[in-house]
Amino acid sequence: MKLAVLKESRPGERRVAIVPEVAAKIAGTGISVEVEAGAGSGARHSDGEYADAGASVAVDAQAALNGASLVVRVQAPTEQEAALLPLGTSLVSLLQPVALSATVRVLAERRATVYSLDLLPRISRAQSMDALSSQATVSGYRAGLSAAEHLAKFFPMFMTAAGTVPPAKVLVMGAGVAGLQAIATARRLGAVVRAYDVRAAAKEEVESLGARFVELDLETQEGSGGYAKEQSAKYLARQQELLAAEVASSDVVITTAQIPGRSAPVLVTRSMAEGMSDGAVIIDLAADSGGNCELTVPGEEVLHQGVMVVGMTNPPSSMPTHASFLYARNVANFLGLLVKDGELAPDPDDEIISGTCVVRAGEIVHVPTAEALGLSLPSETNQANHELETPPSTDPIPARQTDEEQQ
Ligand code: NAI
Repeated sequence: MKLAVLKESRPGERRVAIVPEVAAKIAGTGISVEVEAGAGSGARHSDGEYADAGASVAVDAQAALNGASLVVRVQAPTEQEAALLPLGTSLVSLLQPVALSATVRVLAERRATVYSLDLLPRISRAQSMDALSSQATVSGYRAGLSAAEHLAKFFPMFMTAAGTVPPAKVLVMGAGVAGLQAIATARRLGAVVRAYDVRAAAKEEVESLGARFVELDLETQEGSGGYAKEQSAKYLARQQELLAAEVASSDVVITTAQIPGRSAPVLVTRSMAEGMSDGAVIIDLAADSGGNCELTVPGEEVLHQGVMVVGMTNPPSSMPTHASFLYARNVANFLGLLVKDGELAPDPDDEIISGTCVVRAGEIVHVPTAEALGLSLPSETNQANHELETPPSTDPIPARQTDEEQQ
């Protein structure tokens, strides 16, 4: 069986789906791995490293795809790339199938079987395959570093002969995977950190990292699978009111709040940002899904009345070596379910297989995607992820964008 690793084509994407170390492990199981020339260059892996790992290097995508049964990518192919897939191929990537339903339609026309890792059920058995979590870890780390870089102050306290410098005050809003990593990074750099989340379970996790949990006189908002549920406009307005003083007293605010399938909630309004001191920094990790700050412009640094608002897009791509390493490990673990004795043999009744499957041999089985395409519901459908119309994103493709808007 041949596995093809293609060069990512989305603008700014530097990750690669399989790194040489993981290619060697996969090749060791008897699968032939073929990598498009230059696929690893953004993540600092040369073609030679792949060759040394036992993979072959194809001159271009077409050559890599020739005879391949399985294709792995980080991001979804474009519609044009999807149209070049050999008939009946399987594809694994972070697809964002609802937002990119037009691409899914093309993949279905190619009679492909498509697995989207952003639909992975959040169960213990799937943790080693959880690409959203691995990439969110990178995002949180990047957010902490970016905050320290943009702030014109020290993060740690300094006691010097010239005087004592107080530590920076960092507020992290949204304490999921990325938020917890942002807390840990800011703490390692010496800042005093407070954090807030609408989920009750976040308190203990925040405190275990040595940060203070900000408690508000508001109900918690627990959704399913560990996610938060969407909050009402009234709830968010009250939250903004209660958090305004916390924001104003912070040197840095890092926002990471997301709701699966929805635009990110606004946690920091324009007036809250204007209440911060000159030189303060807001790092918005939810920029790809609309932003947690009203002033956020995705991919840009906006200076507003002395406050720097950084709308980070695709942060994992800015640390491509380790983001790719973790992603490749997630993919290899997922392949453990797809491949038996060197052949594709997924068990359709496996919760992880059925949860991630968007297209099965040309039939679109993911209900929200079928709905987005205006198709009647297929007979056997992927009900498991019906709620997650568009999963929380660590990717650069905003959920609301279509393929055409991307180009
Ligand atoms: P996410 O990326 O969807 O959201 C980030 C955070 O924003 C969440 O903690 C959410 O509660 C918070 N949030 C949403 N609205 C907010 C608001 N208005 N104000 C403040 N915070 C708000 O979530 P992520 O990081 O992907 O995961 C959330 C949780 O899911 C984790 O903390 C964990 O409990 C669970 N999880 C479980 C896994 C498993 O069992 N395999 C794997 C990964 C996460």
